Amino acid sequence: MSIAEILETMSYGPAPESDKEARAWIKGLGGETKLFIGGAWKKAKAGESFETIAPGSGEVLTRIAQAGAADVDAAVKAAAKAQPAWAALAGHQRARYLYALARLIQRHSRLFSVVETLDNGKPIRETRDIDIPLVARHFYHHAGWAQLMDGELADREALGVCGQIIPWNFPLLMLAWKIAPAIALGNTVVLKPAEYTSLTALLFAEMCQKAGLPEGVVNIVTGDGATGEEIVKHPGIAKIAFTGSTEVGRRIREATAGTGKSLTLELGGKSPFIVFDDADLDAAVEGVVDAIWFNQGEVCCAGSRLLVQESVHDRFIARLKARMETLRVGDPLDKVVDIGAIVHPVQLERIRSLVETGVKEGASLHQPKAGVPAKGCFYPPTLLTGVHPAATVSRVEIFGPVVVATTFRTPAEAVELANNTEYGLAASVWSETLSLALDIAPKLKCGVVWVNGTNMFDAGVGFGGYKESGFGREGGREGLSAYSRPKWLAKAKPIAEKPAAQPTGDVLSTAFVDRTAKFYVGGKQARPDGGYSRPVVSPSGALVGEVGEGNRKDIRNAVEAARKAASWGTASEHNRAQILYYIAENLDARAGEFAERLAAMTGRRRQDTVREVSASVSRLFAYGAWADKYEGAVHKPPMRGVALAMNEPVGTLAVVCPEEPGLLGFVSTFAPAIALGNRVVVIPSASQALAATDFYQVLETSDVPGGVVNIVTGDRHALALELARHEEVDGIWYFGNAATAGAIEKASAGNLKQVWAETAQRDWFDARQGEGREFLGRATQVKNIWVPYGE
Ligand code: NAI
Repeated sequence: MSIAEILETMSYGPAPESDKEARAWIKGLGGETKLFIGGAWKKAKAGESFETIAPGSGEVLTRIAQAGAADVDAAVKAAAKAQPAWAALAGHQRARYLYALARLIQRHSRLFSVVETLDNGKPIRETRDIDIPLVARHFYHHAGWAQLMDGELADREALGVCGQIIPWNFPLLMLAWKIAPAIALGNTVVLKPAEYTSLTALLFAEMCQKAGLPEGVVNIVTGDGATGEEIVKHPGIAKIAFTGSTEVGRRIREATAGTGKSLTLELGGKSPFIVFDDADLDAAVEGVVDAIWFNQGEVCCAGSRLLVQESVHDRFIARLKARMETLRVGDPLDKVVDIGAIVHPVQLERIRSLVETGVKEGASLHQPKAGVPAKGCFYPPTLLTGVHPAATVSRVEIFGPVVVATTFRTPAEAVELANNTEYGLAASVWSETLSLALDIAPKLKCGVVWVNGTNMFDAGVGFGGYKESGFGREGGREGLSAYSRPKWLAKAKPIAEKPAAQPTGDVLSTAFVDRTAKFYVGGKQARPDGGYSRPVVSPSGALVGEVGEGNRKDIRNAVEAARKAASWGTASEHNRAQILYYIAENLDARAGEFAERLAAMTGRRRQDTVREVSASVSRLFAYGAWADKYEGAVHKPPMRGVALAMNEPVGTLAVVCPEEPGLLGFVSTFAPAIALGNRVVVIPSASQALAATDFYQVLETSDVPGGVVNIVTGDRHALALELARHEEVDGIWYFGNAATAGAIEKASAGNLKQVWAETAQRDWFDARQGEGREFLGRATQVKNIWVPYGE
């Protein structure tokens, strides 16, 4: 046998990592774990518990306490008690605690890695080299934000108690993603790990004790979905942060609707991995290995849909199959193992049955010859080829080591296939032509794009989805907004809406009632589908004018027009800025007319309405100014390369304006949305609707492309609900009463659109409340494009 042959055929001997220390720690838990509440270890009040297994061997590791309603309540109370003092600490003091946690995690990294591997089944190579170092990095990075908060986020404050529910695929890493930003900004937390993987969260709680973290800042309650539900419904919680399945995310959206809790959801994915014919194919093969066989494919952003350009498909698949033969599946604690165990028999069964469905639906199955260990919870790396884009396995998240492959011919087809999913978490683009890759990246509807790479994460680079992959970002500056709120909000009163006035018969001025104002849809005036109109009445009951009564069909038309105007999103920022200035100029030219109309509708003094019009002109100027200045960022994660954070428009945005001020409220909400490339369907104030219908002429004379601004008048509550339910609406803003806000949040669960339902009264004349970054942030979603460099 030649040396070359020996090298080819030589197998690796086992290189097991010792689990002695980890097992001693688990034994020390006493056979059943406790809950970490208010800085102390407490037994679950109802005394219930369940087993947690080591999926690599199937053995029972210990029993986990099942927290019930009373335990969750105790945890929330402890967190609430701790919160004011924690938030009042100097940023530097909080920074020191986060820094201490980072140091402790590093110091105990081996123990954390082994416990995580035992409990989850993922290879020790990954926990040791990826999970745990990233956990420490997250605490370091956010120690920095605690330190800088007073300066960099001077106008924001903590939310209060945050309820955090995490999955089992990256147990400690997801804990870090949730806890670090929350406590950095002065929140306290009640966190529930997933039922399969609770152990490292309990070890982390010990680190909190070691770090001397004030009691109640971090509380860990273990349990299953029922415990999660208790957290979600607890009235003492200001915010829910959830990572997990889209199904549960949707349920949480419904459960939190109308409660005033803020919400971020990081859900599932079916992320495309696109290989162009000019890609470095060997590198791309390694990319697939990292994309779908890292963490057994139990990764929300796994590159599970392989799209290969037709001309290189066969060559690529052949190389991929050859590489699959070399993947080692086995004991997660073995340092030479590539693919460990699936987290639980339930998940294993789910993978098996989905693959079976794939084969039944016509896919060709390929698995390497070596097979998997007989004992334990293992599934081999799997490739399904010849898969139709409509097949179950092309659409459903398998959450296992299974990649489905299909082909494309042109870049446009690649984009179309890539976006043909209700998810939008991540994508990977492989091409040696940077101009092609960077052209494709913004066209992909997802929150993260890796160019010639995959599954890269960093605390400084936001992560999160588009569409049904959820909303909100974790990491980076953009992740901080989800754990803080504007300071003025705490003192704001709730919006009080008066019942609509009815006409008493007087006609204020016949000049105004000579016609019913129509809707403005697709750049044209449109008659109401139902043919009905509604009066606009002065406070004294005089009829000022009539506007159309919009219905579902009118909303459908407006949404369709908005979607057709998609090119607004890619118009140059300079172009959008010019148009906003132009709108301002044209409003200014008709200032007197608008002031008069506002005075007629509101009964306010003329000097006040003049002030409102001039504030509206100024606001339009402000968003003209912002249009080309709300830029993204270039992140420098710890690698050779950069991550480009791009502020992309949400898409088709529904804007339900505040009831008053009629003109300024309308301008202050639609202008930031269109400044950043969204197309809007606007429901203006009902009592002052004529301020918006008069605005058509301003829009018409300002070169606003048809469909960018669509205006439908009518019952704000009913129209808002139509928009909230509409599957083609990507986001909705609402400023009004709590009942409608809740109904909108509930109705939005269908396509998990982003909702900003604001029930607090803001001073629209004060630029700190009525203008600026809060609006710009809501009008955009950050896409991070990772561009590694080097040879
Ligand atoms: P899951 O969404 O049920 O579990 C995630 C977390 O939510 C766990 O902590 C669980 O206890 C909790 N939970 C469950 N029901 C809840 C409820 N009604 N209210 C509050 N919290 C609740 O995910 P599961 O069942 O473990 O996995 C099922 C599928 O979900 C997987 O096959 C995979 O497709 C997907 N998944 C996606 C993840 C992601 O990161 N995108 C993570 C985990 C699962």
